[in-house]
Amino acid sequence: MDLMEYQAKELFARHGVPVTLGRVIEDPADAAAAAVDLGGRVVVKAQVKTGGRGKAGGVKLARSPEEATEKAGEILGMDIKGHTVHRVLLAPAADIAAEYYFSFLIDRANREYLCIASTEGGVEIEEVAHTKPEAIAKVPIDPAVGVDAAKAEEIVAAAGFPAEATSIVQRLWDVFVAEDATLVEVNPLVKLGDGSLEALDGKVTLDDSATYRHPDHAAFEDKTSADPLEAAAHEKGLNYVKLDGSVGIIGNGAGLVMSTLDVVAYAGSQYGVKPANFLDIGGGASAEVMANGLGIILSDAQVRSVFVNVFGGITACDAVSNGIVQALAVLGDRADKPLVVRLDGNNVDEGRRILAQANHPLVTVVDTMDGAAAKAAELAAQN
Ligand SMILES: Nc1ncnc2c1ncn2[C@@H]1O[C@H](COP(=O)(O)OP(=O)(O)OP(=O)(O)O)[C@@H](O)[C@H]1O
Ligand SMILES: [Mg+2]
Repeated sequence: MDLMEYQAKELFARHGVPVTLGRVIEDPADAAAAAVDLGGRVVVKAQVKTGGRGKAGGVKLARSPEEATEKAGEILGMDIKGHTVHRVLLAPAADIAAEYYFSFLIDRANREYLCIASTEGGVEIEEVAHTKPEAIAKVPIDPAVGVDAAKAEEIVAAAGFPAEATSIVQRLWDVFVAEDATLVEVNPLVKLGDGSLEALDGKVTLDDSATYRHPDHAAFEDKTSADPLEAAAHEKGLNYVKLDGSVGIIGNGAGLVMSTLDVVAYAGSQYGVKPANFLDIGGGASAEVMANGLGIILSDAQVRSVFVNVFGGITACDAVSNGIVQALAVLGDRADKPLVVRLDGNNVDEGRRILAQANHPLVTVVDTMDGAAAKAAELAAQN
């Protein structure tokens, strides 16, 4: 899960990283009062889960409460790289003497953690990485040792940060480890006019596999920007990702579903038809799971046909077929789009027999994956 800046800063504050939390608002009418509380001069910052907000016009200085209202009005509702701004952070305008870049991340190729740091931080950091790579320090971190005082000093020296940064580096490492983050980035980490340091921005990605260890992280989930179908699928424990095509896809096993997306995209290219979603119902595809999955897919208004692609393994094809038949019974009138079913693997004959016997008017059984993809694409194009 990616956090928004204000959430990342909340985590930073819990670990003693110097930040100014500011105020988060969703309505421009609340901007003036918040600006007054914060001292008058504020920066209005779009809260969206993407970088480059500043360059996109999502970070603006307001010199007065009136201007804060005006800027908040401009930024709220704005679209930044496909993300609608529902919230802005108002932060006191900082007296910036220098902007640094800092991050901890996972270096998968080298099975290590990596610290990337530079005194040339700010919104042009990508440009610096291209034109002046020597200005960016990369310090590998041994996972068995982590960032102790010596490593923090090494990082600070390699980056060319002032010595006071050492304790912040250690605190950011605390955030990375204690919160089970896979990314902690601060750009800019600023030196203020009085020489003190502060994290002026924050980007944190939390490891979803560690959610069970952090009940408090649930509060960070952003219900407003989640796709409603994805949210509904998530609640039912389904592995579903909404895409923007018209062929609904259900399969068992992530690899099979990925290749199903490919064959449907290929078969559909002649009609301009694409997959509507990714849905992996996993190994134990019970009737209930099948009904939940079909229910989600059929409530996607863009769906015109559904391709159920199952390779029977531990859960054999007959169990899946029974699941499909029962799911259609459960869904009743809500099942209103044609279903193309391809079964193979364990107990395939019995699985096909069950579907043939049920003889459901919406179901077409096709023996091969390519054939089924072609049929599903054709049905989506016709409907
Ligand atoms: N509180 C503040 N006071 C003064 N200037 C600020 C403040 N917050 C941000 N800025 C300025 O705006 C710039 C962009 O802000 P910020 O880094 O938060 O947004 P960003 O565009 O999302 O950054 P990134 O490129 O890392 O995604 C900063 O580099 C800094 O110069
Ligand atoms: Mg930034």
